[in-house]
Amino acid sequence: MNVFEIKNGTLHAENVALTTIASQFNTPCYVYSKLALTQAFSDFKAGLIGSNHLVCFAVKANPNIAILNLFAKLGAGFDIVSGGELARVLAADGDPQKIVFSGVGKTADEMRAALNAGIFCFNVESASELKRLNDVAGSMGKIAPVSLRVNPNVDAKTHPYISTGLKNNKFGVAFEDALTVYEQAAAMPNIAVHGVDCHIGSQITELAPFIEALDLILGLVDALETKGIHIGHIDVGGGIGITYADETPPEFANYAKAILAKLANRNVKLLFEPGRALVGNAGVLLTKVEYIKPAEAKNFAIVDAAMNDLMRPALYDAYHNIAAVEPRTGTTTSYEIVGPVCESGDFLGHDRNLNLQEGDLLAIMSAGAYGMSMASNYNTRARAAEVIVDGDKVFVVRQREKIADLFALENCLD
Ligand code: LLP
Repeated sequence: MNVFEIKNGTLHAENVALTTIASQFNTPCYVYSKLALTQAFSDFKAGLIGSNHLVCFAVKANPNIAILNLFAKLGAGFDIVSGGELARVLAADGDPQKIVFSGVGKTADEMRAALNAGIFCFNVESASELKRLNDVAGSMGKIAPVSLRVNPNVDAKTHPYISTGLKNNKFGVAFEDALTVYEQAAAMPNIAVHGVDCHIGSQITELAPFIEALDLILGLVDALETKGIHIGHIDVGGGIGITYADETPPEFANYAKAILAKLANRNVKLLFEPGRALVGNAGVLLTKVEYIKPAEAKNFAIVDAAMNDLMRPALYDAYHNIAAVEPRTGTTTSYEIVGPVCESGDFLGHDRNLNLQEGDLLAIMSAGAYGMSMASNYNTRARAAEVIVDGDKVFVVRQREKIADLFALENCLD
């Protein structure tokens, strides 16, 4: 299903022309499709029907309240990594009992907030964190439900910045130490061991690393059982990739089948933490060509979106397809698609063959994940508006920031 399609010469989101969105809400603007979001979630669930499972959307991929609320209504749980994300999920009517709390640096305040909310599980990433959580829960007269994030030392074969399951990463408890840390956890008065989890990286396009990690985790679960430590749920993390260009990530159905096959005859609940796979291809960043600038070596198309709006190209050299909203026939030219920010790293795409004129609209595709969520105010640029299209209706789910708000929290010395 492609909800971003050319109809009558104009790129649409569902039934709404992106030209209409640009003229009503201006650019740059993130445009999401409700149908694509809903479909991605139900496709992910389809292969899991009949199993005891919980799909926890990784909030960091796209934390807009409207998206969280949509997934909550569809029955999703949430994977959070901060007190801020906890507050968002609660504001979006997410069920606290479906929240898992990941992250290597949880503060005591964040732990308290999560214990007060009554979350499903803390994904604990170190022995020190475990000890702190026991202390915090003890001071509140509560028992903290815990799963240890185990680092299985599996190569996810993805970009080094988004690979998390290798020995040299900061994440999780080293596989060799896991038994010992579980024994410590089991002996703590304010900790209840519930599960085990792992997350080996992001934008993974092969099944093998997931299965390799799961095999190791299952071995650990068995070893724990012999020590009298029962594991009630296995959280396999997120990480399934999407197609940005020509990648062929595992289909949800095959991923689910391979995981469920490994779990046959085991009485455990399965948790998933997908982020990108649920939102990545459900959104585009709409931008306008401000200037065409032919230069000696390259032709530049300077657009009104920049690295502060979509950081992935600058940070990971990530590829996003860039489509003309009203494509012209005729000769194309190779363009560097760049933003107005004062950095040479401020590009959205290299060598894109397009037939462009100033004022044209472009859609940066596959921008629904880690787009707006990583946006900043660099160069005192107000962050873009966000809209969701539902059929022929458009809802503003985040207003464009106002410039005055960008320095409203600042004070002069006198
Ligand atoms: N669970 C945990 C513990 C994670 O750290 C992450 C992502 C996820 C789940 C969701 O992973 P996903 O299904 O989205 O791959 N900014 C980068 C991606 C960073 C991912 C960080 N962790 C990017 O734009 O590619």
